[in-house]
Amino acid sequence: MPTFAALSLAPFGMEVRLASVPRAESAEADQLRALYQQDGLLIVRGLRLSQAEQIEFCRIFGPVHESPFENFLVSNVDKTGHLGMRELLWHNDVPFLPSPYLAGSLHALQVDPLAVGTRFVCGYRAYQRLPAALRERIVGMKALHVRERVYDRPTRLTDLQAGDICTVHDVVRSDPESGRKYLFVNQAWTDSIIGLPQAESRSLLDELFGHFYAEGEMYEHKWADGDLVLWNNLALQHARGLAGEGVRTLQRVTITRLGYAQQYPTDVGIYDELHNDAMLAE
Ligand SMILES: [Fe+2]
Repeated sequence: MPTFAALSLAPFGMEVRLASVPRAESAEADQLRALYQQDGLLIVRGLRLSQAEQIEFCRIFGPVHESPFENFLVSNVDKTGHLGMRELLWHNDVPFLPSPYLAGSLHALQVDPLAVGTRFVCGYRAYQRLPAALRERIVGMKALHVRERVYDRPTRLTDLQAGDICTVHDVVRSDPESGRKYLFVNQAWTDSIIGLPQAESRSLLDELFGHFYAEGEMYEHKWADGDLVLWNNLALQHARGLAGEGVRTLQRVTITRLGYAQQYPTDVGIYDELHNDAMLAE
């Protein structure tokens, strides 16, 4: 029997209200893991967590590295925060690393009701929606993901600097626990499909994006103080519009097997980039 009530969001996602973080070995934690597994999106209302408490919450779902690369503030007012007011295109976080983050969480410390929301789309749903012939066509295909280097349009291979990392991942991946398949190509940093002529690769990616980002397939979270959003960073993608209006301070904690600095030790300068107001990502 559930220990607390959960609300189904449209078009996907689950929402609960909690007064505190349950212990990782508890019936409540089991229930939260099950709700999160459903669509890869869990909204929790009513919390007020320090970074340490948010890390404890995230450890219910997976490993957390206590590193400033993975855990930081996203803010348009706090000088120590990562941010920018810029629009963020659809992306998974760090798909250009060999082991992209498993999940992200953002917790609203202080948010004006006018502040821009965070949008999500679901790769499980996108894969299911593909026409059968298109699903058949992409079997076994792989795509090249490139490190972010430009901030007002998608980064392409030709934008990279010497030594920048790229990683090839399967276009269709599956969740190791449920076996469910999801589409893993994104608007911001997927350069191309391996082995296809450039024009064909571009047109196939655009076709896949058309399904991924289709009308009515997006959940937009309008932030309120105390909200915590946890999303599967592999199966889901996120984006946001310009963050110029209204105070917006969110506390970010990341769930990952490997940290950024472990996977890409020559790129530790990204931390300074993340602090650059003109460049920052959520
Ligand atoms: Fe992001």
